[in-house]
Amino acid sequence: MARINENFLKLKAGYLFPEIARRVNAFTEANSEAAKRLIRCGIGDVTEPLPDACRQAMHDAVDELGNSATFKGYGPEQGYAFLREAIVENQFAGLGIAADEVFISDGSKCDTGNILDIFGKGNVIAITDPVYPVYVDTNVMIGNTADADETGAYAGLVYLPCTPENGFVPAIPDQKVDLVYLCYPNNPTGATATRSQLEAWVAYARANQAIILYDAAYEAFIQDPELPRSIFEIEGARECAMEFRSFSKNGGFTGVRCAYIVIPKALKGYTVDGREQAIHPLWSRRHSTKFNGASYPVQKGAAAVFSEAGKAQVAALIEGYMGNAKLLREACAAAGLPVFGGVNAPYVWVGCPAGLTSWDMFDKMLNEANVVITPGSGFGAAGEGYFRISAFNTRANVEEVCRRIRATFG
Ligand code: MLT
Repeated sequence: MARINENFLKLKAGYLFPEIARRVNAFTEANSEAAKRLIRCGIGDVTEPLPDACRQAMHDAVDELGNSATFKGYGPEQGYAFLREAIVENQFAGLGIAADEVFISDGSKCDTGNILDIFGKGNVIAITDPVYPVYVDTNVMIGNTADADETGAYAGLVYLPCTPENGFVPAIPDQKVDLVYLCYPNNPTGATATRSQLEAWVAYARANQAIILYDAAYEAFIQDPELPRSIFEIEGARECAMEFRSFSKNGGFTGVRCAYIVIPKALKGYTVDGREQAIHPLWSRRHSTKFNGASYPVQKGAAAVFSEAGKAQVAALIEGYMGNAKLLREACAAAGLPVFGGVNAPYVWVGCPAGLTSWDMFDKMLNEANVVITPGSGFGAAGEGYFRISAFNTRANVEEVCRRIRATFG
């Protein structure tokens, strides 16, 4: 008898974005005319073409693979040195990060899920609420939780509420946790964490021998020079944090796939009997057993993000998306809705009109405005009463969405 991993049976109906896609498909099947007007601001997927510098680099890399003198087979599982070095030079200069502390992968979604392979059972795990659902679901899958209650909260996880009152940055817990996921700029709320807030988290993690899993996939959208871009800007973070970064949202690689984790060699975990163990070799071992490296052309394309031309092209992409975020913020505010985020992040987090739940709002936007948004409750119980609009879209679509928001709620 083939036994299944019964933890999967604890998962709620569907992963949020496929569930949205299912509802949108049902709508388009039933409303073929309205479906033609549909604008998707749900999933945070980029819309603009890849930067020219990245495309050129990928073309050149493919040509290298077509020549026996420059052909390459398996690459280093942890990533090519040219990319790891470019990352350190361009993203972590002066922060004490070495190139061999960077692990290249095919995406941050996979990385944030896969990382659980190297942690043991019995950790107390804290997540923010609302939260990127992958952190929760991967903990459920691996057996780190019991069942969910009627609000969708899983027994065994420590939920850290993020509300307008705390600026969507959670208070330090009054209990001991072992692993904590923090994501800033935040998905879904678009909030950012200040230096002093991150200092408090680093102090907490060090005092509790905890590890911070810091997701900085949206770092490129930070506009305010005072805001930290990396957890490693905080003194002592190398001993208590790892950081997830991605080329998806800055270089537009959502379909190309390239990301990385920075795991300092100074980061330690513990065996059950309390012996210290460096995390870096564990992940290195896991990565080289279960992963054969991101493809060479993709890594070449990613490295081109840091070329002079690449930097300028990425800056233009970010500027475009942040211009969209500003328009969306203004339209929602003009409609009298409470608006958060969208200033240093590509997501705008909006309070629903009085009396509407998040899914009511989703349905209203879909049926009346023919715009797909993401219901806040899909990110956790504390997201109820909110919805998220993604600024990843063309300017023309965003302007149209703003018109429809005004027409529906103005
Ligand atoms: C989102 O919409 O939250 C993101 O696109 C999800 C992701 O990056 O995986």
